[in-house]
Amino acid sequence: MARHLRTLRDLSSAEFNRVLNLARDVKQNPDAYREKLAGKAVAMIFAKPSTRTRVSFEVGIRQLGAQSLFLPYGGDSGLHLGRGETPHDTAKSLSRYVDAIVIRTFGQDEVDALAEHSAIPVINALTDRFYPCQVLADVMTMRERFGDDLRGKKLVFVGPGNNVTHSLLHAGPRVGFDVVVACPEVLPPSHQVLEIAREEALRVGTQVFVEHNARKAVKDAAVIYTDTWVSMGQERDAHSLRAKLTAYTVDDELMETAAPDAIFMHGLPARRGEEVMASVIDGRQSVVFDQAENRLHAQKALMLLLMGAEPWS
Ligand code: CP
Repeated sequence: MARHLRTLRDLSSAEFNRVLNLARDVKQNPDAYREKLAGKAVAMIFAKPSTRTRVSFEVGIRQLGAQSLFLPYGGDSGLHLGRGETPHDTAKSLSRYVDAIVIRTFGQDEVDALAEHSAIPVINALTDRFYPCQVLADVMTMRERFGDDLRGKKLVFVGPGNNVTHSLLHAGPRVGFDVVVACPEVLPPSHQVLEIAREEALRVGTQVFVEHNARKAVKDAAVIYTDTWVSMGQERDAHSLRAKLTAYTVDDELMETAAPDAIFMHGLPARRGEEVMASVIDGRQSVVFDQAENRLHAQKALMLLLMGAEPWS
């Protein structure tokens, strides 16, 4: 049975740390992994635009000695998936040609269905619901700043409950940091994701909670994290989303309320003057390009493990 990364719940706490430790070694010693996936091929299915994810996966795949196939989801030169071929038939067919599937799409159910019928690893490169690859790189970046033991560190996500929020809620209890979601009452994270995160946090002794007052939420935070207010596919709701989120811009005053060594995180693309002020994202506390770089190393580690080129323990 193939292992997949549909969400971060596919990784135990030990496995999550294994990905991060291997990612660090891949970053420090890239030459040691150059031919680890020689002769393999990875299909990359994209139904949405991408800069960082596409480039970091394609470059990472080549650096490991494999080849990537960029496959638009639909359109005249795309897959039949975009015009109704089932995930079942797509997964079964691709499993005969390639060694892993990376997919960026809208519905999490499509990733789950591909994984269910695939004989090869399926990696979620963003759905409307979850964004595990981004958060692997984010936690790698947090460890680089604060050390491997993140216990007691508070990450505050400021903005609408979204796919990044959900994956951060999965990560906190697994890795040991606290997660606070500072969002408007009308834009909360998924109740189901939140409840599971609360149960997991209670079990391992970390904290997960929602706070609607952003200033109160970020007090003593180690990390202030935000994301675009208008996710891909929500463009028609942009005006209404912006109106609901005006009190949630990350500005200098908010950063000053956090811990003195706090960092600012954002997965990009960003809109300066909207979810974050330029002085913050381009300022000394920002680690956004470390996050972007770490996409490459974390995803290489993930592929090495899921594709069986490195052991899980
Ligand atoms: N963070 C992120 O998903 O960037 P891209 O959309 O450019 O891949």
